[in-house]
Amino acid sequence: MTASFHEMWRQLAPVGRHPDSGGYRRHAWTGADADCRTWFQEQAEARGLHYETDRNGNQWAWLGDPLAGGAVVTGSHLDSVPDGGAFDGPLGVVSSFAALDELRARGAEFTRPLAITNFGDEEGARFGLACVGSRLAAGQLTREAAYELRDGDGITLPQAMEAAGYDPAAIGPDPERLARIDAFVELHVEQGRALDLTGDPVGVASAIWPHGRWRYDFRGEANHAGTTRLVDRRDPMPTYAETVLAARRAAELAGAVATFGKIAVEPNGVNAIPSLVRGWLDSRAADQATLDTVTAAVESAAAEAAARHGVDLTVVRESFTPVVEFDHALRDELGKLLGGRVPVLGTGAGHDAGILSAAVPTAMLFVRNPTGVSHSPAERAEEDDCVAGVRALADVLEGLACR
Ligand code: GLV
Ligand code: MN
Ligand code: MN
Repeated sequence: MTASFHEMWRQLAPVGRHPDSGGYRRHAWTGADADCRTWFQEQAEARGLHYETDRNGNQWAWLGDPLAGGAVVTGSHLDSVPDGGAFDGPLGVVSSFAALDELRARGAEFTRPLAITNFGDEEGARFGLACVGSRLAAGQLTREAAYELRDGDGITLPQAMEAAGYDPAAIGPDPERLARIDAFVELHVEQGRALDLTGDPVGVASAIWPHGRWRYDFRGEANHAGTTRLVDRRDPMPTYAETVLAARRAAELAGAVATFGKIAVEPNGVNAIPSLVRGWLDSRAADQATLDTVTAAVESAAAEAAARHGVDLTVVRESFTPVVEFDHALRDELGKLLGGRVPVLGTGAGHDAGILSAAVPTAMLFVRNPTGVSHSPAERAEEDDCVAGVRALADVLEGLACR
Protein backbone atom coordinates (compact mmCIF):
# COMPACT_ATOMS: atom_id res chain seq x y z
CA MET A 1 0.00 0.00 0.00
CA THR A 2 2.82 2.40 0.87
CA ALA A 3 4.46 1.63 -2.49
CA SER A 4 1.24 2.24 -4.42
CA PHE A 5 0.66 5.49 -2.51
CA HIS A 6 4.17 6.72 -3.38
CA GLU A 7 3.87 5.76 -7.00
CA MET A 8 0.52 7.54 -7.40
CA TRP A 9 1.87 10.61 -5.61
CA ARG A 10 4.94 10.65 -7.86
CA GLN A 11 2.77 10.44 -11.00
CA LEU A 12 0.47 13.28 -9.96
CA ALA A 13 3.18 15.58 -8.57
CA PRO A 14 4.12 17.36 -11.84
CA VAL A 15 0.56 17.70 -13.22
CA GLY A 16 -0.49 21.34 -13.35
CA ARG A 17 2.40 22.49 -11.17
CA HIS A 18 3.63 25.96 -12.04
CA PRO A 19 7.42 26.04 -12.39
CA ASP A 20 7.83 29.47 -10.78
CA SER A 21 5.41 29.37 -7.86
CA GLY A 22 5.56 25.61 -7.24
CA GLY A 23 1.78 25.80 -6.75
CA TYR A 24 -0.88 23.83 -8.60
CA ARG A 25 -3.17 25.34 -11.24
CA ARG A 26 -5.52 22.44 -11.91
CA HIS A 27 -8.61 24.42 -12.81
CA ALA A 28 -11.80 22.82 -14.05
CA TRP A 29 -11.86 21.68 -17.67
CA THR A 30 -8.32 22.85 -18.46
CA GLY A 31 -5.46 20.73 -19.81
CA ALA A 32 -4.14 20.07 -16.30
CA ASP A 33 -7.60 18.94 -15.21
CA ALA A 34 -7.76 16.62 -18.25
CA ASP A 35 -4.39 15.13 -17.28
CA CYS A 36 -5.66 14.51 -13.73
CA ARG A 37 -8.77 12.86 -15.16
CA THR A 38 -6.71 10.63 -17.45
CA TRP A 39 -4.62 9.62 -14.43
CA PHE A 40 -7.82 8.73 -12.51
CA GLN A 41 -9.12 6.59 -15.36
CA GLU A 42 -5.78 4.79 -15.64
CA GLN A 43 -5.77 4.06 -11.90
CA ALA A 44 -9.29 2.65 -12.16
CA GLU A 45 -8.48 0.48 -15.16
CA ALA A 46 -5.16 -0.74 -13.71
CA ARG A 47 -7.17 -2.12 -10.76
CA GLY A 48 -9.82 -3.75 -12.95
CA LEU A 49 -12.48 -1.33 -11.72
CA HIS A 50 -15.46 -0.31 -13.85
CA TYR A 51 -14.77 3.28 -14.92
CA GLU A 52 -17.46 5.84 -15.82
CA THR A 53 -18.13 9.56 -15.83
CA ASP A 54 -21.55 10.67 -14.71
CA ARG A 55 -23.77 13.23 -16.44
CA ASN A 56 -21.99 16.06 -14.61
CA GLY A 57 -18.46 14.96 -15.48
CA ASN A 58 -17.67 13.46 -12.07
CA GLN A 59 -15.49 10.35 -12.34
CA TRP A 60 -16.33 6.98 -10.75
CA ALA A 61 -14.34 3.76 -10.38
CA TRP A 62 -16.50 0.83 -9.28
CA LEU A 63 -15.72 -2.45 -7.61
CA GLY A 64 -18.97 -4.40 -7.82
CA ASP A 65 -22.22 -3.53 -9.53
CA PRO A 66 -22.79 0.25 -9.78
CA LEU A 67 -26.54 -0.34 -10.10
CA ALA A 68 -26.97 -2.73 -7.16
CA GLY A 69 -27.51 -0.03 -4.50
CA GLY A 70 -26.23 0.07 -0.93
CA ALA A 71 -22.83 1.29 -2.17
CA VAL A 72 -20.00 2.65 -0.07
CA VAL A 73 -18.24 5.51 -1.84
CA THR A 74 -15.00 7.31 -1.08
CA GLY A 75 -13.01 9.99 -2.90
CA SER A 76 -12.48 13.70 -3.16
CA HIS A 77 -11.33 16.07 -5.94
CA LEU A 78 -8.26 16.64 -8.09
CA ASP A 79 -8.73 20.31 -9.06
CA SER A 80 -7.01 23.12 -7.18
CA VAL A 81 -7.24 26.78 -6.22
CA PRO A 82 -4.82 29.11 -8.07
CA ASP A 83 -1.35 28.08 -6.86
CA GLY A 84 -2.81 25.52 -4.49
CA GLY A 85 -1.02 22.81 -2.56
CA ALA A 86 -0.51 19.18 -3.52
CA PHE A 87 -2.77 17.69 -0.83
CA ASP A 88 -6.13 19.50 -0.87
CA GLY A 89 -8.22 17.03 -2.86
CA PRO A 90 -5.59 14.65 -4.31
CA LEU A 91 -4.74 13.22 -0.88
CA GLY A 92 -8.32 11.92 -0.67
CA VAL A 93 -8.34 10.41 -4.16
CA VAL A 94 -4.88 8.83 -3.91
CA SER A 95 -5.66 7.52 -0.40
CA SER A 96 -8.87 5.97 -1.74
CA PHE A 97 -7.03 3.90 -4.36
CA ALA A 98 -4.31 3.04 -1.81
CA ALA A 99 -6.95 1.97 0.74
CA LEU A 100 -8.46 -0.35 -1.86
CA ASP A 101 -5.00 -1.83 -2.49
CA GLU A 102 -4.60 -2.29 1.26
CA LEU A 103 -7.98 -4.04 1.55
CA ARG A 104 -7.13 -6.36 -1.32
CA ALA A 105 -3.81 -7.16 0.38
CA ARG A 106 -5.77 -7.96 3.54
CA GLY A 107 -7.96 -10.32 1.53
CA ALA A 108 -11.07 -8.34 2.40
CA GLU A 109 -14.33 -9.67 0.97
CA PHE A 110 -16.70 -6.98 -0.19
CA THR A 111 -20.38 -7.45 0.51
CA ARG A 112 -21.37 -4.11 -0.99
CA PRO A 113 -20.33 -2.21 -4.14
CA LEU A 114 -17.45 0.17 -3.48
CA ALA A 115 -16.70 3.23 -5.60
CA ILE A 116 -13.92 5.81 -5.73
CA THR A 117 -14.83 9.26 -7.06
CA ASN A 118 -13.24 12.43 -8.34
CA PHE A 119 -15.78 15.24 -8.12
CA GLY A 120 -15.33 17.94 -10.77
CA ASP A 121 -14.60 21.59 -10.04
CA GLU A 122 -14.62 21.43 -6.24
CA GLU A 123 -12.65 24.63 -5.73
CA GLY A 124 -14.61 26.83 -8.12
CA ALA A 125 -11.37 28.58 -9.05
CA ARG A 126 -12.39 29.09 -12.66
CA PHE A 127 -16.15 29.74 -12.60
CA GLY A 128 -16.47 31.23 -9.11
CA LEU A 129 -18.78 28.61 -7.63
CA ALA A 130 -17.35 25.81 -5.48
CA CYS A 131 -18.37 22.13 -5.66
CA VAL A 132 -20.04 22.41 -9.08
CA GLY A 133 -19.92 18.65 -9.77
CA SER A 134 -21.44 17.60 -6.47
CA ARG A 135 -23.90 20.51 -6.38
CA LEU A 136 -25.25 19.54 -9.81
CA ALA A 137 -25.55 15.88 -8.76
CA ALA A 138 -27.36 16.79 -5.54
CA GLY A 139 -29.70 19.24 -7.29
CA GLN A 140 -28.24 22.20 -5.40
CA LEU A 141 -27.22 23.90 -8.66
CA THR A 142 -29.70 23.99 -11.48
CA ARG A 143 -28.71 23.32 -15.03
CA GLU A 144 -29.91 26.82 -15.95
CA ALA A 145 -27.73 28.46 -13.29
CA ALA A 146 -24.76 26.30 -14.31
CA TYR A 147 -25.18 27.45 -17.90
CA GLU A 148 -24.78 31.06 -16.72
CA LEU A 149 -21.39 30.46 -15.09
CA ARG A 150 -18.49 32.20 -16.88
CA ASP A 151 -14.77 32.27 -16.31
CA GLY A 152 -12.60 35.42 -16.32
CA ASP A 153 -12.29 35.23 -20.13
CA GLY A 154 -16.06 35.04 -20.65
CA ILE A 155 -16.03 31.31 -21.51
CA THR A 156 -19.17 29.65 -20.18
CA LEU A 157 -19.16 26.40 -18.23
CA PRO A 158 -20.92 24.48 -21.05
CA GLN A 159 -18.39 25.81 -23.57
CA ALA A 160 -15.51 24.71 -21.34
CA MET A 161 -17.04 21.27 -20.78
CA GLU A 162 -17.62 20.81 -24.49
CA ALA A 163 -14.06 21.86 -25.32
CA ALA A 164 -12.87 19.21 -22.85
CA GLY A 165 -14.93 16.55 -24.63
CA TYR A 166 -17.93 16.36 -22.27
CA ASP A 167 -21.57 16.82 -23.19
CA PRO A 168 -22.94 19.85 -21.33
CA ALA A 169 -26.49 19.03 -22.48
CA ALA A 170 -26.45 16.10 -20.05
CA ILE A 171 -25.80 18.04 -16.84
CA GLY A 172 -28.41 18.06 -14.09
CA PRO A 173 -29.56 16.37 -10.89
CA ASP A 174 -28.61 12.73 -10.43
CA PRO A 175 -30.92 11.46 -7.66
CA GLU A 176 -30.95 7.83 -8.84
CA ARG A 177 -27.17 7.66 -8.61
CA LEU A 178 -27.12 9.20 -5.12
CA ALA A 179 -29.93 6.88 -3.98
CA ARG A 180 -27.64 3.91 -4.69
CA ILE A 181 -25.11 5.17 -2.10
CA ASP A 182 -25.44 4.17 1.56
CA ALA A 183 -22.34 6.00 2.79
CA PHE A 184 -19.87 8.54 1.40
CA VAL A 185 -16.55 9.00 3.21
CA GLU A 186 -14.13 11.74 2.10
CA LEU A 187 -10.56 11.77 3.40
CA HIS A 188 -8.96 15.24 3.30
CA VAL A 189 -5.84 16.98 4.54
CA GLU A 190 -6.73 19.08 7.57
CA GLN A 191 -6.77 22.80 6.76
CA GLY A 192 -5.99 23.96 10.25
CA ARG A 193 -3.85 22.84 13.19
CA ALA A 194 -6.35 21.05 15.43
CA LEU A 195 -4.71 17.62 14.94
CA ASP A 196 -1.25 19.08 15.32
CA LEU A 197 -2.36 20.46 18.67
CA THR A 198 -3.99 17.22 19.86
CA GLY A 199 -1.04 15.17 18.55
CA ASP A 200 -3.20 12.81 16.44
CA PRO A 201 -2.50 11.81 12.84
CA VAL A 202 -6.18 11.35 11.93
CA GLY A 203 -9.50 12.91 13.01
CA VAL A 204 -13.17 12.68 12.13
CA ALA A 205 -15.28 15.67 11.01
CA SER A 206 -18.21 16.93 13.03
CA ALA A 207 -19.48 19.87 11.00
CA ILE A 208 -18.70 22.42 8.29
CA TRP A 209 -19.28 26.09 9.05
CA PRO A 210 -21.83 27.94 6.92
CA HIS A 211 -19.98 29.91 4.26
CA GLY A 212 -20.47 31.92 1.10
CA ARG A 213 -19.02 34.16 -1.56
CA TRP A 214 -20.23 37.68 -2.30
CA ARG A 215 -19.21 39.83 -5.30
CA TYR A 216 -18.81 43.53 -4.55
CA ASP A 217 -18.84 45.89 -7.58
CA PHE A 218 -17.66 49.40 -6.81
CA ARG A 219 -18.25 51.62 -9.86
CA GLY A 220 -16.74 55.08 -10.16
CA GLU A 221 -15.34 57.13 -13.00
CA ALA A 222 -12.11 56.53 -14.91
CA ASN A 223 -9.96 59.62 -15.12
CA HIS A 224 -6.39 60.88 -15.28
CA ALA A 225 -4.30 60.08 -12.20
CA GLY A 226 -2.18 63.21 -12.64
CA THR A 227 -4.68 65.91 -13.52
CA THR A 228 -7.87 65.04 -11.61
CA ARG A 229 -8.15 66.89 -8.30
CA LEU A 230 -8.87 64.60 -5.35
CA VAL A 231 -12.17 66.38 -4.68
CA ASP A 232 -13.32 65.82 -8.26
CA ARG A 233 -12.72 62.07 -8.23
CA ARG A 234 -15.19 59.23 -8.05
CA ASP A 235 -12.51 56.69 -7.22
CA PRO A 236 -13.82 53.24 -6.20
CA MET A 237 -10.46 52.08 -4.82
CA PRO A 238 -10.60 53.87 -1.44
CA THR A 239 -14.16 52.58 -0.99
CA TYR A 240 -12.93 49.07 -1.67
CA ALA A 241 -10.03 49.56 0.76
CA GLU A 242 -12.38 50.74 3.52
CA THR A 243 -14.59 47.73 2.88
CA VAL A 244 -11.67 45.32 3.25
CA LEU A 245 -10.79 46.86 6.63
CA ALA A 246 -14.44 46.80 7.71
CA ALA A 247 -14.64 43.08 6.84
CA ARG A 248 -11.60 42.36 8.95
CA ARG A 249 -13.06 44.33 11.88
CA ALA A 250 -16.49 42.69 11.63
CA ALA A 251 -14.95 39.21 11.53
CA GLU A 252 -12.71 39.95 14.52
CA LEU A 253 -15.62 41.24 16.58
CA ALA A 254 -17.77 38.19 15.76
CA GLY A 255 -15.11 35.46 16.03
CA ALA A 256 -15.67 34.67 12.34
CA VAL A 257 -13.49 34.95 9.22
CA ALA A 258 -13.84 37.27 6.22
CA THR A 259 -11.45 37.48 3.28
CA PHE A 260 -11.18 39.56 0.13
CA GLY A 261 -8.79 37.26 -1.79
CA LYS A 262 -9.67 38.10 -5.38
CA ILE A 263 -9.95 41.46 -7.07
CA ALA A 264 -10.42 42.79 -10.60
CA VAL A 265 -9.75 46.40 -11.53
CA GLU A 266 -10.73 48.30 -14.68
CA PRO A 267 -9.06 49.73 -16.64
CA ASN A 268 -6.17 48.48 -14.45
CA GLY A 269 -3.69 51.20 -15.44
CA VAL A 270 -1.06 52.65 -13.12
CA ASN A 271 -1.92 56.22 -14.15
CA ALA A 272 -5.70 55.85 -14.40
CA ILE A 273 -8.28 56.24 -11.64
CA PRO A 274 -10.26 52.98 -11.80
CA SER A 275 -13.79 52.91 -13.21
CA LEU A 276 -14.49 49.60 -11.48
CA VAL A 277 -13.12 47.66 -8.56
CA ARG A 278 -14.65 44.23 -8.20
CA GLY A 279 -13.76 42.31 -5.06
CA TRP A 280 -14.96 38.92 -3.86
CA LEU A 281 -15.73 38.44 -0.17
CA ASP A 282 -15.46 34.94 1.29
CA SER A 283 -16.94 34.79 4.78
CA ARG A 284 -17.52 31.91 7.19
CA ALA A 285 -18.66 31.52 10.80
CA ALA A 286 -19.56 28.77 13.22
CA ASP A 287 -23.28 29.55 12.95
CA GLN A 288 -25.67 31.25 10.59
CA ALA A 289 -26.58 34.19 12.87
CA THR A 290 -22.92 35.14 13.27
CA LEU A 291 -22.29 34.89 9.55
CA ASP A 292 -25.33 37.09 8.87
CA THR A 293 -24.05 39.68 11.35
CA VAL A 294 -20.65 39.82 9.64
CA THR A 295 -21.94 40.01 6.07
CA ALA A 296 -24.52 42.68 7.00
CA ALA A 297 -21.81 44.75 8.72
CA VAL A 298 -19.53 44.53 5.67
CA GLU A 299 -22.29 45.50 3.28
CA SER A 300 -23.40 48.48 5.34
CA ALA A 301 -19.81 49.73 5.74
CA ALA A 302 -19.35 49.40 1.97
CA ALA A 303 -22.58 51.29 1.28
CA GLU A 304 -21.63 54.08 3.68
CA ALA A 305 -18.12 54.46 2.15
CA ALA A 306 -19.54 54.30 -1.38
CA ALA A 307 -21.97 57.13 -0.64
CA ARG A 308 -19.15 59.25 0.79
CA HIS A 309 -16.95 58.73 -2.29
CA GLY A 310 -19.71 59.10 -4.91
CA VAL A 311 -19.32 55.46 -5.92
CA ASP A 312 -22.08 53.04 -6.97
CA LEU A 313 -22.20 49.73 -5.15
CA THR A 314 -23.82 46.43 -6.05
CA VAL A 315 -23.46 43.28 -3.98
CA VAL A 316 -24.35 39.85 -5.36
CA ARG A 317 -24.27 36.64 -3.32
CA GLU A 318 -22.65 34.21 -5.76
CA SER A 319 -22.80 31.13 -3.58
CA PHE A 320 -23.85 29.97 -0.17
CA THR A 321 -23.57 26.73 1.76
CA PRO A 322 -25.51 26.39 5.02
CA VAL A 323 -24.05 24.71 8.09
CA VAL A 324 -23.44 20.97 7.62
CA GLU A 325 -23.70 18.57 10.55
CA PHE A 326 -22.31 15.26 9.38
CA ASP A 327 -24.46 12.17 9.95
CA HIS A 328 -24.08 11.37 13.67
CA ALA A 329 -24.56 7.61 13.33
CA LEU A 330 -21.95 7.32 10.58
CA ARG A 331 -19.57 9.63 12.45
CA ASP A 332 -19.89 7.48 15.60
CA GLU A 333 -19.39 4.35 13.57
CA LEU A 334 -16.17 5.75 12.09
CA GLY A 335 -15.00 6.58 15.61
CA LYS A 336 -15.63 2.98 16.69
CA LEU A 337 -13.96 1.50 13.59
CA LEU A 338 -10.91 3.62 14.39
CA GLY A 339 -10.64 2.40 17.94
CA GLY A 340 -12.73 5.01 19.70
CA ARG A 341 -10.06 7.58 20.46
CA VAL A 342 -10.08 9.84 17.39
CA PRO A 343 -10.62 13.57 17.77
CA VAL A 344 -13.82 14.96 16.29
CA LEU A 345 -13.34 18.36 14.64
CA GLY A 346 -15.34 21.05 12.91
CA THR A 347 -13.95 22.93 9.92
CA GLY A 348 -14.37 26.22 8.11
CA ALA A 349 -13.48 24.64 4.76
CA GLY A 350 -16.08 23.53 2.23
CA HIS A 351 -16.11 20.01 0.73
CA ASP A 352 -18.10 17.86 -1.69
CA ALA A 353 -18.94 15.74 1.37
CA GLY A 354 -20.79 18.76 2.78
CA ILE A 355 -22.87 19.10 -0.39
CA LEU A 356 -23.66 15.39 -0.59
CA SER A 357 -24.62 15.22 3.08
CA ALA A 358 -28.07 16.56 2.21
CA ALA A 359 -28.75 13.44 0.15
CA VAL A 360 -26.44 10.71 1.46
CA PRO A 361 -25.10 9.70 4.93
CA THR A 362 -21.69 11.32 4.78
CA ALA A 363 -18.54 11.45 6.90
CA MET A 364 -15.01 12.83 6.64
CA LEU A 365 -11.56 11.85 7.86
CA PHE A 366 -8.89 14.52 8.31
CA VAL A 367 -5.15 13.89 8.11
CA ARG A 368 -2.85 16.06 10.24
CA ASN A 369 -1.31 19.10 8.60
CA PRO A 370 1.73 20.15 10.64
CA THR A 371 1.47 23.85 9.83
CA GLY A 372 -2.24 24.14 9.09
CA VAL A 373 -1.34 25.98 5.85
CA SER A 374 -3.64 25.19 2.92
CA HIS A 375 -4.61 26.75 -0.43
CA SER A 376 -0.90 27.51 -0.80
CA PRO A 377 2.12 25.69 -2.23
CA ALA A 378 3.34 25.36 1.40
CA GLU A 379 0.47 22.95 2.25
CA ARG A 380 1.92 19.75 3.71
CA ALA A 381 1.28 16.43 5.44
CA GLU A 382 3.97 14.09 6.75
CA GLU A 383 4.44 10.78 4.98
CA ASP A 384 3.71 8.74 8.12
CA ASP A 385 0.46 10.63 8.60
CA CYS A 386 -0.58 10.00 4.99
CA VAL A 387 0.02 6.29 5.56
CA ALA A 388 -1.97 6.46 8.81
CA GLY A 389 -4.75 8.14 6.82
CA VAL A 390 -4.79 5.34 4.23
CA ARG A 391 -4.93 2.72 7.00
CA ALA A 392 -7.76 4.57 8.74
CA LEU A 393 -9.68 4.85 5.47
CA ALA A 394 -9.10 1.14 4.78
CA ASP A 395 -10.36 0.26 8.28
CA VAL A 396 -13.46 2.38 7.75
CA LEU A 397 -14.18 0.97 4.28
CA GLU A 398 -13.66 -2.57 5.55
CA GLY A 399 -16.10 -1.96 8.37
CA LEU A 400 -18.69 -0.41 6.05
CA ALA A 401 -18.37 -2.48 2.88
CA CYS A 402 -17.14 -5.90 4.00
CA ARG A 403 -19.68 -7.08 6.57
C1 GLV B 1 -12.72 24.89 -0.44
O1 GLV B 1 -11.61 24.41 -0.23
C2 GLV B 1 -13.13 26.02 0.34
O2 GLV B 1 -13.45 25.84 1.53
O3 GLV B 1 -13.04 27.14 -0.16
MN1 MN C 1 -9.73 23.62 -1.06
MN1 MN D 1 -10.59 20.13 -0.87
